[in-house]
Amino acid sequence: MKYSKAIILSSQMLLISVFGFTQSKINPNDIKEKMQWFADAKLGIFIHAGIYSVDGIDESWSFHNKKISYTDYMKQLKGFTLKKYDPSSWADLIQESGARYAVITTKHHDGVAMYDTKINDLSSVKATPAKRDMIKPFFDELRKRDIKCGAYYSLIDWSYADYPGFLKDSSRYKVESDYERWNRFRQFFQGQIREISTWYNPDLWWFDGDWEHSAERWESEKVRNMILTNNPKAIINGRLQGYGDYATPEQNFPVTRPKFDWWELCMTTNDNWGFHHDENWKTPYEIITIFIDAVSNGGNLLLDMGPKEDGTIPAEQIHVLKELGAWNKKNGEAIFNTIGGIPQGHFYGPTTLSKDSTVLYLFLHGQSSGTFMLKGLDNKIQEITVVGNGTKLSHKVVGKISWSPVPGLVYIDVPATVLDKYVTVPKLKLDKPVKLYRGQGGFN
Ligand code: GLC
Repeated sequence: MKYSKAIILSSQMLLISVFGFTQSKINPNDIKEKMQWFADAKLGIFIHAGIYSVDGIDESWSFHNKKISYTDYMKQLKGFTLKKYDPSSWADLIQESGARYAVITTKHHDGVAMYDTKINDLSSVKATPAKRDMIKPFFDELRKRDIKCGAYYSLIDWSYADYPGFLKDSSRYKVESDYERWNRFRQFFQGQIREISTWYNPDLWWFDGDWEHSAERWESEKVRNMILTNNPKAIINGRLQGYGDYATPEQNFPVTRPKFDWWELCMTTNDNWGFHHDENWKTPYEIITIFIDAVSNGGNLLLDMGPKEDGTIPAEQIHVLKELGAWNKKNGEAIFNTIGGIPQGHFYGPTTLSKDSTVLYLFLHGQSSGTFMLKGLDNKIQEITVVGNGTKLSHKVVGKISWSPVPGLVYIDVPATVLDKYVTVPKLKLDKPVKLYRGQGGFN
């Protein structure tokens, strides 16, 4: 009974951690100011760099789930060369995509650090032909371009001899029966966090794997305080068992607007985080519409790329990031520094608002032209233009009854000549901050 209960608990913790946000113990008012850059940033690029790219297999999970032996998984150390690793070109591509931050794996669940950790020999510097730290040169290049730096760090370390977990159906020991050993692991992982904090000073921490143990066992509060002592402005994702600042729904697209102050959808470009022989690439149109959907619901998108073992980026990922960047370059005013849009039901598509809510942006998917309807807008529209090309659009208010407070319907004409290759954005300048009728019709 106890064991199965443990399984239920850990799977619940996994679900909360990966798809939701363990109820934060942090007062949002205390962190509102430092989260502002994150709220405005909208787009981050996730990078899963690791030895799993040598054979193109599931990052860490491939040996944990026994798809491959641990011995064979670790043989990939010998093939990790980074011989064409060019952090400047990575930073150029990230900048071109329009992203305002990037998050790179400093260590995944497999325990292989991508930086020159001094408290372990399992790193890209000491255990692979690459013999180099990935993090510092990359952060340096990002900072030259004023792009925020995020450090992904896996609390889980399935390689470390003092970590209890190892394979999906076998563990090295039970914490409750050997706290000394767990303490040794805790000193190890907290030591690595201290290294990363001290040497690289991340603007953002992306913890992962918190579901395997409780906040007490991780000493989550101590970890948070250690990070904030070194950098009070650092922000932490919601995978520190309740001591994070924002939620991280993963690969799961919200339908109703998430009720978090800040949240970020993390998503792969194909179906895998690391480099993989997986050709199921999302198209630029799919990526752009998913990005808009997250932003319209008040969130960010953290879009992943998985570089090859030599440090090059798959052509398909380069293409997507360039197309996304071109769209952002033209339509970015409707995305960056905006706030989530009006509630669903007023317009049959995503929307965003300017921070003062006097500008409403509508997103028209695909090659859809014609006449579009907007309901319950209790504002006068001063002007409608198309973002990125300035064309003025005409509109008509229909059905406004003089004796009723209920606003009429707005019909907006969008000719085919103004359409964007992917998503077209009419911009409505309103007479005052947006005011919406939310009634059910009738006489009220
Ligand atoms: C999950 C997976 C991990 C991946 C992460 C990215 O936590 O365990 O492999 O790196 O999601 O969000």
